[in-house]
Amino acid sequence: MRADLEVTGPHGPIPVRVYEPDGAAEAVLVWAHGGGFRHGDLDMPEADMVGAELSRRANAVVVSVGYRLAVDGVRYPVPIDDVHAVWTWVTARTDLPARRAIGGASAGAALAVSAALRATASPPDLLLLAYPFAHFPTPTLGHGRTLENIEDMVRNYVGRISDLPADALPGAARLDGLPPAYIVLSESDDLRPSGELLERQLREAGVPAESFLAPGTTHGHLNRPDDVPDAVDASLGFFAAALRAPRQAPRWLRRDGEPRIEFGADYNPEQWPREVWADDVRAMREAGVTIVSLGIFAWARLEPAERRYDFGWLDEVMDLLHAAGILVDLATPTASPPPWLTTRHPEILPVDRDGRTVWPGARQHWRPTSPVFREHALRLVRALARRYADHPALAAWHVNNELGCHNVHDYSDDAARAFRGWLRRRYTTLDALNAAWGTDFWSQRYGEWEQILPPRYANGPVNPTQQLDFKRFSSDALKEHYLAERRILREITPDVPVTTNFMVAGPINEMNYPDWAAEVDFVANDHYTRPGPQSRDELSFSANLCGNLISGRPWFLMEHSTSAVNWQPVNVPKLPGELARDSLTHVAHGADGVCFFQWRQSRAGAEKFHSAMLPHAGTSSAIFAAVTDLGARLRSLSGVAGLARTPSDVAVVIDYESWWAAEQDSHPTDRLRYRDEALDWYTALLDAGVRADVVPVSADLTGYRLVVAPILHLVPAALRQRLEEYAAGGGHLVTTYFSGIVDEFDHAWLGGYPGALRDLLGIRVEEFAPLLDGESVPLSTGTSGTLWSERVEVTDPAVTVLAAYAGGGAAVTRRAVGAGSAAYISTRLGPQGLLVILDELLSPAGVVSELPPDLRGKVELAVRGPVRFLINRTAEPVELSAVAGAPQTLPARGVVVLLSPGTPG
Ligand code: GLA
Ligand code: GLA
Repeated sequence: MRADLEVTGPHGPIPVRVYEPDGAAEAVLVWAHGGGFRHGDLDMPEADMVGAELSRRANAVVVSVGYRLAVDGVRYPVPIDDVHAVWTWVTARTDLPARRAIGGASAGAALAVSAALRATASPPDLLLLAYPFAHFPTPTLGHGRTLENIEDMVRNYVGRISDLPADALPGAARLDGLPPAYIVLSESDDLRPSGELLERQLREAGVPAESFLAPGTTHGHLNRPDDVPDAVDASLGFFAAALRAPRQAPRWLRRDGEPRIEFGADYNPEQWPREVWADDVRAMREAGVTIVSLGIFAWARLEPAERRYDFGWLDEVMDLLHAAGILVDLATPTASPPPWLTTRHPEILPVDRDGRTVWPGARQHWRPTSPVFREHALRLVRALARRYADHPALAAWHVNNELGCHNVHDYSDDAARAFRGWLRRRYTTLDALNAAWGTDFWSQRYGEWEQILPPRYANGPVNPTQQLDFKRFSSDALKEHYLAERRILREITPDVPVTTNFMVAGPINEMNYPDWAAEVDFVANDHYTRPGPQSRDELSFSANLCGNLISGRPWFLMEHSTSAVNWQPVNVPKLPGELARDSLTHVAHGADGVCFFQWRQSRAGAEKFHSAMLPHAGTSSAIFAAVTDLGARLRSLSGVAGLARTPSDVAVVIDYESWWAAEQDSHPTDRLRYRDEALDWYTALLDAGVRADVVPVSADLTGYRLVVAPILHLVPAALRQRLEEYAAGGGHLVTTYFSGIVDEFDHAWLGGYPGALRDLLGIRVEEFAPLLDGESVPLSTGTSGTLWSERVEVTDPAVTVLAAYAGGGAAVTRRAVGAGSAAYISTRLGPQGLLVILDELLSPAGVVSELPPDLRGKVELAVRGPVRFLINRTAEPVELSAVAGAPQTLPARGVVVLLSPGTPG
């Protein structure tokens, strides 16, 4: 519904056009069209089409302002006065929604910002700015408009081009205090630098600002909806999603019914003839499958040629699953671009460090920062979301697949451009970047942003801060891609949760998941075991961290394997009992969904020898029987669903930045493996029968009696302070060799090691003494250290030496800090060596095992509220007579779940 009205303003009546949504309005937007301050009216698409569309898409009342144009002697600040008068009129009305925005396009965006700067009494909640013209002089004009055009426009509006009032072109104004801004940029816009500069200025002033680059557009694209329909659609979608009242997306699947543990797999029906689908669904029901992840690699089938969609087969599969009561975690199929796309646009292919193109043939051959890839991917996401928004089987969105699994570090020109943008946001000035990167080393000083490159192949070690920032940037770039997809999914289906499958497993560290976790509605993880003595503990460690990425809330195991994988040098099948034990260990650490890769073992393709729920052998197989048993077991555990992990007294801290920094090149040893050290601590604690939480370094540590922060290499001043306060507050901190060494710029803390933690630990180390392969250093405890050693000087009288090197000198120390302490281990002890000193660290912290003595080491205990999980870590049955309410024995590789004291499940 639209109505033309007049609002009284200081210069007389102001025409406005008001658009009302069909349903109840959730927001109100005051909108100013563009036209260089002297053109434009309420009928132009940028006013009328935008007003009608935003009203419809965001359930908003849109008030489009016919402000006075700078003609016939009208000048600054009259147009601002008019927009502001309409804003005052809107905000005085009590019949309009409380969520209020102001926005505009081009010159109208400048008016909107200037009106917002005035609206201190009733400030807007957000700004919507399309290709803003916000500066004079205009930053780096490209081709197109001439400087004379711009001067003329400004002179016409303000009456001069010098001594401009700050709010005439509001990039010059004080911007702090403005509400969050959402900026649409036209890609090939000579004025784009103004929008980009405004975004940087807003951020610098502490105003949250987010932009959307509309591909293939020139300045003013909202005025040309017929020329660039996709870009206009996406731009309006971006604004609508921001304008709509924020809805808390559900934190778990969209489904009705009692809580339960979900069970299922990736389902790839496109690999099989249609006749097989009905058999699949029948066998899924037999196995107790409740959910499948669908369409993950189906791009080529869903969009067989550019903009030609074929959803028919997916409709059929969705309906079939729904009829069988099986939910769908629907993937956006953007992980593997189809051949038509890479043939037409080879510029989306990643480039590796050595400059080699990553050709198609496998999957994930796309640059995270390619605008061309982004455009094609998002168009497909939009089409898919629209198609299935209301499908009753749709329970969650699965964005892409294992983002970054194969393409996280891209060194292409797109990456270089995006890296520079990221660095400009981080450092603002080149001087700050030069200082942070220490570019006076080896004559690397930059004089222009354009000189900066990703850390491509070089003939020696590349600047370490450049490498570290590239790791940060690469994680962020993929997160950006995720957010771009999520924005569309949230816009179209605000009631469907969005997630993406993380890879918290083994050495994978390229994506900073603790940083990503805030952006998923629930954490989903893929985990595969790797052979070795700590394989099972590693699974528990990873599951544990997943359970703590969003403060103990249940998460979703999106993939693991029923048996062997196909991608290790030797692919060993699981032993009897392992399939269930692995699954239940994830559940013990908070997983409320247990899914596998994949449902039916592929007949063709690179994964035909990867195990599945339904193996090549068919339903009459040990694997399918074990899968069906597991389905039944999970049904009996529905009482566990929804229960948070119960925190323990001990935390093992994981810091991805320390992980990255500690393993860079040109270090004392290239043998150091951050996560192995952390896992050794976890194993030692399990050996002692002590439950620990694996937590990100950003977690609140104050509730833990003991915090182990192994190889906490990168310690900014704020982290140092947190750790000092933790210990001063009675906490017991333990850290190891190569901790506290650098700050956030990877610059060494001076004065001796362990740098930032030297005073807290009460020790000083002058030189590292890493050990050669096969070399070890005996300790007074009877064990020995490998990898690393140090000559530790005790500098504080409150330090006790807990273990010494047999050759002399402290190896393990603890400093009393008030009621707390800070301990240091200067060598790699391994799980057995750590176990020997563990009691000396646990006792002062008052940490005791919750397990009866006979079970310690053999059994892992995990707790979710009233439910206790006893997991057999050994290949032998374990007597449980000492545990009240437990069965007689815990089978080899078995799990006993005590639902409430006395009821085994
Ligand atoms: C060579 C170089 C120096 C320095 C040393 C390090 O000698 O000339 O600049 O890099 O190696 O060992
Ligand atoms: C990853 C992928 C799956 C599959 C499995 C095989 O988890 O997401 O598509 O390739 O590995 O282990």
